[in-house]
Amino acid sequence: MRSKLVLQAYLCFIGVLTALITYQLGINTVNSFSIDLLFFIGLLLANNRRSIETESGAFSLNYPFLLPVMALYGPLAAALVAVIGIMELEEFKQPLAVIIHNRGTIAFSALMGGIAYHSIFTHYGFTLAVTGSALAYLLANTLFFAVAKLVEMLTLDTRDGFLNDLLEILKTLLPSAALGAVFYYTYVYFSVYGLIVSYLFFLALRSQTLFGLLDTTYRLALIKSLLRAVWAKDPELMQHMERVAFFSRELARQYGYSPLKQRALDEACYFHDIGKLEIQDDILKRPGRLTQRQFETIKSHPERGARFIEEIPIPLRNRKTIRNIVLYHHERWDGAGYPYGMEGEQIPLEARIVAVADTWDAMTSHRCYKEALSIPDAITELKRVRGTQLDPAVVDVFLTILDDVLDKERKQASASLMDEKHSFPASW
Ligand SMILES: [Fe+2]
Repeated sequence: MRSKLVLQAYLCFIGVLTALITYQLGINTVNSFSIDLLFFIGLLLANNRRSIETESGAFSLNYPFLLPVMALYGPLAAALVAVIGIMELEEFKQPLAVIIHNRGTIAFSALMGGIAYHSIFTHYGFTLAVTGSALAYLLANTLFFAVAKLVEMLTLDTRDGFLNDLLEILKTLLPSAALGAVFYYTYVYFSVYGLIVSYLFFLALRSQTLFGLLDTTYRLALIKSLLRAVWAKDPELMQHMERVAFFSRELARQYGYSPLKQRALDEACYFHDIGKLEIQDDILKRPGRLTQRQFETIKSHPERGARFIEEIPIPLRNRKTIRNIVLYHHERWDGAGYPYGMEGEQIPLEARIVAVADTWDAMTSHRCYKEALSIPDAITELKRVRGTQLDPAVVDVFLTILDDVLDKERKQASASLMDEKHSFPASW
């Protein structure tokens, strides 16, 4: 409780401090105000939930829309537009301290972006001014967000990779600045109508992403049906793939993967053992112990799988995720896995996620060489290999997901039992 109060006090303090600094610095800058500012506020409000997915990460439309305001109306005008425009209804469900913090830091970031633009523009021209102002805006924005996260980590004992967030956002600096420049020029030359046209044109281009999504959905369906045919000899294996995909998707969601990356992961789960297609059935389905040589052959399936997927035209944005899963899903957290003996966070997160889902399913399924474990025994076993074979953090997240799934199953089972009871004839 006390640590929560410390966090809220910190958030309030930063919110008020940044608002005061913004006002003090802002009144000494050159600003002008026009009815067009309402139009920018409208654009920001309408696009608050829209983020642009690129190869290097996702970015919001906030900076691109703020740049023309920073450049043409001044830093304080940009801060005002940002405070009103960059707002989501969801935010009002948050504690007051969060709202104050966000308003103050957003105003401050827009002001910094504007000041950076004008200071650089007078000496070095437009291109460097836009890049510099995007950097100042994103850095200020990310810095406060990162520090708030750090304070939250210190006071509430939560874990999160705030440095990663910072890097992710910096990677989107150039696309964000470039889009800002496009909006700036169309607004300068063709006023609000030009900006609307360029914005609509941009949305039309973005719908390519939608086509990409449909394409991926179609491809995934095709791959699943082809694999279904291939694995038809072994229906249990197909069910295994589906269960691994289900738990991996749930884990990916908990880890905040974007919907596109969740899809890539889903696709990858159907591929993860594709290398086994090249291995003879008498080794794969051998009931007894394998010889060293046979085991070596089995251990070659991740690399065989990786070679296999090289030949499939998977879109660039999914390729890395899928390859990581196919190649590294048998690496172990303690470094004793195969094929490379990577350890800890060297192993890509998506491979650690699939490893947990895969191991769970292997434990709870019947195989020709072993019996299935009961759910409680499998949970005990999973906890035993937590930190040796599997990433302990992913196992913990998995156990909470499993809890929910089992709870749902129990409720469904008791509901159907109740239905049966109610369907008995009255004379019983
Ligand atoms: Fe495998």
